[in-house]
Amino acid sequence: MKKIFAGILTAMLMLGVTSCGSSDESADSTVQNNGQNTSSSEAASSSESTQNPNTSAGGKTLVVVYSASGNTKAIADYIVSATGADLFEITPTEPYTSDNLDWTDPDSRVSREHDDESLRDVELTTTTVENWEDYDTVFIGYPIWWGIAAWPTDTFVKSNDFSDKTVIPFCTSSTSGLGESGKLLADEAGTGNWLDGQRFQSRADESEVKEWVDSLGL
Ligand SMILES: Cc1cc2nc3c(=O)[nH]c(=O)nc-3n(C[C@H](O)[C@H](O)[C@H](O)COP(=O)(O)O)c2cc1C
Repeated sequence: MKKIFAGILTAMLMLGVTSCGSSDESADSTVQNNGQNTSSSEAASSSESTQNPNTSAGGKTLVVVYSASGNTKAIADYIVSATGADLFEITPTEPYTSDNLDWTDPDSRVSREHDDESLRDVELTTTTVENWEDYDTVFIGYPIWWGIAAWPTDTFVKSNDFSDKTVIPFCTSSTSGLGESGKLLADEAGTGNWLDGQRFQSRADESEVKEWVDSLGL
């Protein structure tokens, strides 16, 4: 049974994983104010209480992302461009190298963590988001690993209080859907109004992401 699953996963991953770039090991975990959307960033810097024009609730929007090889980060950047949101990158204290991510090697870091759930408690450089209480809407993005959210995402979710926030999961994968990944994270968080979320192909177009963001009516 395990071999059959491994065979299916191998076939799925051949379509996408190998095309991923190298790990972005230099990313830090500080909130970045979006500098791409000039009007939003100017507005945000002009007053602490300035409201994000793209949210009906009038609160600020944050995009939280974990990305091991850059694909999900690209989607996060598109969401930032579309909304004027701030960005927070989840960064493991020990970032995953390409060798670490080699799911075809049963002894790779990620394979060992997959096989032994007790190893998945990945330490992050920080789980604290500056001015977390100011955000009403939080997008949270991650790659799919073996059908669920890449586990560094769990550490962030378990460490933060999502009360009174609308949380919108998004992910990238080679072929798998969002599946239960968003629901599992919501269960772990225990707080927040978690929406269904959206899966994108590893290399989705910006227009597709923008269309989805617009459809949310934030
Ligand atoms: C360890 C590992 C497991 C993966 N498992 C799946 C999977 O179950 N289904 C799938 O469609 N893609 C899977 N992928 C592919 C990634 O989800 C996909 O390449 C994703 O876009 C990577 O995002 P990132 O560049 O932000 O890390 C896996 C990749 C890795 C490294």
